[in-house]
Amino acid sequence: VVEARPAADLAGRHVVVSAGGTREPIDPVRFIGNRSSGRQGVALAVAALARGARVTLVAANLAGDLLAPVRARGAEVVEVSTTAELRSAVRGAATTADVVVMAAAVADFRPVAPPAAKIKKVAGRSPAPIELVENPDVLAELAAERLRVGQVVVGFAAETGDDDGTVLEHGRAKARRKGADLLVVNAVGHAVGFGTDDNEVTVVDGAGATVATAAGSKRVVADAVWDAVTSISST
Ligand code: CTP
Ligand code: CA
Repeated sequence: VVEARPAADLAGRHVVVSAGGTREPIDPVRFIGNRSSGRQGVALAVAALARGARVTLVAANLAGDLLAPVRARGAEVVEVSTTAELRSAVRGAATTADVVVMAAAVADFRPVAPPAAKIKKVAGRSPAPIELVENPDVLAELAAERLRVGQVVVGFAAETGDDDGTVLEHGRAKARRKGADLLVVNAVGHAVGFGTDDNEVTVVDGAGATVATAAGSKRVVADAVWDAVTSISST
């Protein structure tokens, strides 16, 4: 039995989506960054708009001209670069949001004190180490604080399997740690996940139990995420 989704099942809802990857300055010309293109976050925003939501997209260093279609469809776009900027934009928008989806790849660490001038190389001398400090965990804070009553908080987990566990084992453990309502777990590496058009995910709840799986275009994955959100927020 195929049930048609209501035309606008997010009508009247405000959703906040973070997308892309944050950058932490090393000096005025260099940064620590990551391979996130922002495509999955953009697909989430476009899908939410199609389902009737008011959308705020917090966009961190998106690839190419991904923002044009989102703006054309009526989303509010806030461009940020560092984790501190992303955190304040997401938290500002979250005060009125029914749903916050943290699809952005947030830098875990930042250089403690980036110098105001470019770091110069000195012939024959090895470079000074860059001291890092941990960034706040925006998702865990949102999950703990719930800036609006009844707000649904969704995270993404980019995992590679390793000696300590599979992609899904790491994802389930992360879901229990973060306190979010849903965590979208996907495998990443050089060829999958980042920068590609297709994605394959398992959506788990806060206890780590599987609530949905989806594979296909980032739009298909986006709609599966909104399906999971509407199924927990309508009960
Ligand atoms: N996240 C965040 N703030 C951070 C780090 C991550 O809000 N400082 C969010 C991401 O946006 C994502 C989720 O937390 O929704 C999971 O990110 P991930 O990097 O997979 O998890 P970490 O807890 O940082 O664990 P690790 O990188 O060690 O696997
Ligand atoms: Ca991380």
